[in-house]
Amino acid sequence: MQKITVLVSGGGTNLQAIIDAITCGEIKNAKIVQVISSNSKAFSLERARKHGIAAKVIDKETYPDLNDRTDALIFALKEEDTDLVVLAGYMSVLDAKLIQAYEGRIINIHPSLIPKFCGKGFYGKRVHQAVLDAGETQTGATVHFVDEGVDTGEVILQESVPVLNGDTADILAARVLITEHKILIKAIKKLLEEKNLGGK
Ligand code: GRF
Repeated sequence: MQKITVLVSGGGTNLQAIIDAITCGEIKNAKIVQVISSNSKAFSLERARKHGIAAKVIDKETYPDLNDRTDALIFALKEEDTDLVVLAGYMSVLDAKLIQAYEGRIINIHPSLIPKFCGKGFYGKRVHQAVLDAGETQTGATVHFVDEGVDTGEVILQESVPVLNGDTADILAARVLITEHKILIKAIKKLLEEKNLGGK
C-alpha cells in the first residue's frame, strides 16, 4: 500500500479528485494517510474528515518559526510513513530541508503551462488573469516535481486548455481546474506505478 500525504490550503477540489480516484479504484494500491493544511479554515479539512482521513493543521499561527514548522511537517510525513507528498492548492513555501528529505517524491499541480505564468506571485486567479492580459489563446495545467525553486521542478505532465472569447479569470480558472484534476490523477498513477514508491 503506497502512502500519500496531501498538503492543502484551500477548497480542496484537487484533494477531492484524489480521494475519488482512490475510492473508485482508478488509483490502486494507495491510501491518503493524512491531509495537512497551512490554513485552519480550509474546506479541504472538511473533505478529509468526511472520508475518515486524518486532517491536520500546520500553520504559521501554531508554528510562527519556519524551522519549527518544517520540523513539524517532516515529523508528520515520517510518522505516517509517507511515500508521496502531493501539494494540492498548497500556498506555503516548503523549506529546503523538507524538499531534500523527500527529493523526487513531492509533486505540485500548477494552473498554467510551465514555464509560462509561474513562479513567485503566480498563484490562483492571478495566473489566469495574467494569461488573459497576455492575450494567450491557450493555457493549461502542469504537474511537476517540487524542488527548491518556485514552480521550477521537472515537469511530469502537462495538458493544454483553450482560452475562449469572453473568458474571465473565474471562467478560465474553472475550465483549467477540470484539467488539473485529470492530469493530477494521471501523474499520481504514473509515479506510483513507475516508482513503486511504497513497494520497498
Ligand atoms: C487550483 O487552481 C490549483 O491549481 C492551485 O490551487 C487552486 C485551488 O485548488 N494550486 P483546490 O481546489 O484547493 O484543490
